[in-house]
Amino acid sequence: MSTLLSICLLLISIPSIIILYKLWWIPFRIRHALESQGIKGPPYKFFHGNTKEIIQMKDQISKTPMDLSHDIFPRSQPHLYSWSKIYGDVFVFWMGAKAFTVVTEPQMIKEILNNKEGNFSKINDGDYVKKLFGDGIVVAEGEKWSKLRKLANHAFHGVSLKVMVPEMISSARSMVDRWKNYQGKEMEVCEQFRLLTSEVISRTAFGSSYLEGITVFETLIKLNALISRNAFKIRFYGSKKLIQSKDDTEADRMEQQLHDSILEIVKKREAEASKGQVNDFGNDFLGSLLKVHHHMDPKSQVSVDEIIDECKTFYFAGHDTTYSSLCWSILLLGIHTDWQEKARKEVIQLFGQENPNSEGLTRLKTVTMIIYETLRLYSPVTTITRRTERKTKLGKYELPANVNLLIPPQALHRNPETWGQDAHLFKPERFSQGLAKSTNGNSMAFLPFGSGTRMCVGMNFAFNEAKIALSMILQRYKFTISPNYVHSPHIVLTMQPQHGVQILLQPL
Ligand code: HEM
Repeated sequence: MSTLLSICLLLISIPSIIILYKLWWIPFRIRHALESQGIKGPPYKFFHGNTKEIIQMKDQISKTPMDLSHDIFPRSQPHLYSWSKIYGDVFVFWMGAKAFTVVTEPQMIKEILNNKEGNFSKINDGDYVKKLFGDGIVVAEGEKWSKLRKLANHAFHGVSLKVMVPEMISSARSMVDRWKNYQGKEMEVCEQFRLLTSEVISRTAFGSSYLEGITVFETLIKLNALISRNAFKIRFYGSKKLIQSKDDTEADRMEQQLHDSILEIVKKREAEASKGQVNDFGNDFLGSLLKVHHHMDPKSQVSVDEIIDECKTFYFAGHDTTYSSLCWSILLLGIHTDWQEKARKEVIQLFGQENPNSEGLTRLKTVTMIIYETLRLYSPVTTITRRTERKTKLGKYELPANVNLLIPPQALHRNPETWGQDAHLFKPERFSQGLAKSTNGNSMAFLPFGSGTRMCVGMNFAFNEAKIALSMILQRYKFTISPNYVHSPHIVLTMQPQHGVQILLQPL
């Protein structure tokens, strides 16, 4: 009887010990290790960490209307803003039992992003986020990442990128033609850019139309909204297996739907190749993935699941960020019509009423300055994260293993030491002497595309797409911001205008 009782007690106490170890002992140890080196932050609260405070701050700020200012960091990431004021450049906060050390010091950022010793890895433990990116290039490490990065580099740089220009022009052309229906009226532009950027990535990377990929895009957008809704919700370890929330079931369903829709696109291409309708699986990104899938050498091969993860990643990353930056560019040009005029003059001087061309795109100086300034003020990516693989030296600190690191581009992009006291103002002339001069040689002060080995692989693609879209709009239309526009930048994985951007459109 007493043996049975002891076994029962042991069985009851093991889970409690595990919970205490994970939710109390580990945070206590990490907090102690960081605090002893001067890295402070809001106190860890059992189980939730600081998530309740974060939700509260966000809720409170979203109730107050905002004027048309670009000083948006206190609103979009109020927790990071207010804690940085209290605890300084380097501080720690808690998402549940996970420590996030926020870093804004340039030398430390360089060490993290260059990652020469391999001490900093990507974070890949968010259940929902995994559904969006799978185990693809965004989260992969080591040999798998090298293989995927090589494929992506080939598909989105150099000659491949040049070949995409006519496709981008053709999609932008359909968009500006549609805009004729709105002449003299109010139009919401973000929906237009959603269509454009989805169409462009579908055509250039997957050789299909927006309509063919429509289920993929619609599911990605819904999944993204669900992820953002749950971003600060903390769950007990393993509880997902026991209790499925409505969002869990919905996320599982969406993941399956994404898998099936992409598999259909992949199978269709394979069938076309076997019938000889496309040569060697095609010259686009999907074609490269399929070539490698059918490679003779098993080491070089990628599996069907890896192909699906890569497609998901590029369908999402390839349109969401560019969509966001186009919405904000139009907002800024609609407010600062003097810059709209300057940009238009440059575009007309270079292209007249003709379509843009690859060579001309590289010579668009004013438009480039405007895009940089948009990315500075409204960086689509608002957090760059890594994790310490092991006990690691960073600057003057020694960090324990398993500490998450968070670099906030919004804070860096508004640092008055780099950008001056007018950091919140839209002044594209900051970039007139090039990137290095604008940041006084501090290459970590401007990180819309990240830096180091994991820097955005689609940067040139995004620039080409944005330059083409803006040029073709400026060639045809003048616009101002509608009085109905409500300024409310909010984060749905990327920074987006919550209520869209309404403009008043006039033909030239
Ligand atoms: C304005 C547009 C864009 C912005 C602001 C942006 C931003 C970023 C940032 C900040 C990172 C680095 C994340 C990190 O270090 O953890 C990144 C990585 C990445 N981006 Fe972009 N991106 C844009 C457009 C694109 C496009 C158009 C594509 C695809 C065609 C793309 C594909 C990727 C991929 C695959 C990675 C992961 C690279 C790796 O880990 O090796 N991005 N992007």
